[in-house]
Amino acid sequence: MENKMERIRLKSLQDLVVTPQEAASWIQDGMTLGLSGFTRAGDAKAVPHALVDRTRNIDGFKVNVFTGASLGFETDEKLAEAGIVNKRLPFQVDRTMRGKINEGDLLFVDQHLSHTAEVVRQGVLPKIDFAIVEALAITEDGMIIPTTSVGNSSIFVEHAKNVIVEINTAQPDFEGMHDIYDIGMYGERVPVQMTKPSDRLGTIGIPVDPAKIKGIVFNHHLDSPSPNEGPDAETETMAANLLDFLRNEVREGRLTNELAPLQAGIGSQANAVLYGLLDSEFENLEVYSEVLQDAMFDLIDAGKVNFASCASITISEEKMKTVFENPEPYKDKIMLRPQEISNLPEVIRRMGLIAINTALEFDIYGNVNSTHVTGTKMMNGIGGSGDFARNSRIAIFVTKSVAKGGDISSVVPFVSHVDHTEHDVDVLVTEHGYADLRGLAPRERAPKIIQNCAHPMYREQLMEYFNEACERGGQTPHILEKAFSWHTRLNETGTMLEPELVR
Ligand code: COA
Repeated sequence: MENKMERIRLKSLQDLVVTPQEAASWIQDGMTLGLSGFTRAGDAKAVPHALVDRTRNIDGFKVNVFTGASLGFETDEKLAEAGIVNKRLPFQVDRTMRGKINEGDLLFVDQHLSHTAEVVRQGVLPKIDFAIVEALAITEDGMIIPTTSVGNSSIFVEHAKNVIVEINTAQPDFEGMHDIYDIGMYGERVPVQMTKPSDRLGTIGIPVDPAKIKGIVFNHHLDSPSPNEGPDAETETMAANLLDFLRNEVREGRLTNELAPLQAGIGSQANAVLYGLLDSEFENLEVYSEVLQDAMFDLIDAGKVNFASCASITISEEKMKTVFENPEPYKDKIMLRPQEISNLPEVIRRMGLIAINTALEFDIYGNVNSTHVTGTKMMNGIGGSGDFARNSRIAIFVTKSVAKGGDISSVVPFVSHVDHTEHDVDVLVTEHGYADLRGLAPRERAPKIIQNCAHPMYREQLMEYFNEACERGGQTPHILEKAFSWHTRLNETGTMLEPELVR
């Protein structure tokens, strides 16, 4: 039986152990919390839940909740239900919280994930009263060893007034796999010395002034698993189309079979598309990404991926059984870093990444909406997709050509919200094909996107719009009074299809 206290290797801190309830009692109305957690991995679990239990019936009690990205363990759901969140940033994926955001009950700042650290460092955001971070251990020299994510933990710890450490004894032994580095203040920065994903920059833990640690709690819960959604027929075809594009790049001499460091976004579609690489000729791959999902571990196990850098590991229950119970084979193949580094424009541009992210919808000129359903309702947030798309060598967006049984076309005349402008989008992929937009003018892009990516049932409608728009002229032809007619039709009739096309 493990002696939990041995995890607090700086012995002078051992007296700080308290219950989650006691730690939660220190949090007062109006405070700002910086929680660990990124795409459900490595999130502080015990204290936030104790806080919800203590405050759910206190009228008007509110805190700001800043994190790395989304939380697991139903924490966002519970925080939202209890109504105790004033402002949430920079990302979430919870249905209940999404509902509250869209009702206007909760303020949400949808932020590029590489930007949060900077606004904390500059003091743009309210000062963090408590950083609450999950850890494997505290070392002899007082470093906090994170668990399955790093996210924003290091910047929160550095800038918080107080730190609460949640030592989680259920998490896998990832000690030695983290690389913590702070880029420092503007004006004092030096180039980040990284030319390949496996380069180490910093320390294996988060340095902390021990005097800031106010309490340490213990906790024994694995991360919430991600749903294990393997490929379906459509995502398999999307993967095949993406591979066709990459093969063409190799034929043209712009890439080799080792490709370039890869980034792949969150969600079932990006994960499924990665599975396509398993049976391909591409090999000796490297990954410089934000989240590692199941597919990445299959690629590592198959010897396809040699090294993967990330800010978090978010895998299914099945994968946890193999990876978490025996992390040894991955220790020299994976590195976890702060999200400011995993998503750093300087490094992304230097390495020349191939970035694969998911769109909700894109338009006939290549603008992409990844966040807002019909232009107003938040889905999850932009996450790191903008950090990567803007700075990568090739920015690829994938999506199924239709949603909700065909009532929604993912290819529209004009996106109802722009996350990634046409200037930052290189290649669009659906189950019908791919459109390589590089070097194409708007009038060349539209027919290509419509023919290669749109669902056949929407192609005629899209071409009609484009042709009519061209009659009006313009560099990027549009009929402004009809640009959002597809979204208004969806709201009014339940489908984007024109009435004569509805079966
Ligand atoms: N309009 C309305 N709803 C749409 C839609 C559209 N154009 N396209 C898809 N949807 C719906 C789907 O029907 C599904 O709904 P459901 O949850 O009720 O079933 C939901 O959106 C998710 O779609 P799914 O096909 O399951 O895709 P996904 O899991 O791959 O998620 C995003 C897609 C875009 C929501 C997700 O990738 C995301 O949040 N991206 C932004 C953040 C990001 O890219 N981060 C990358 C760096 S890690």
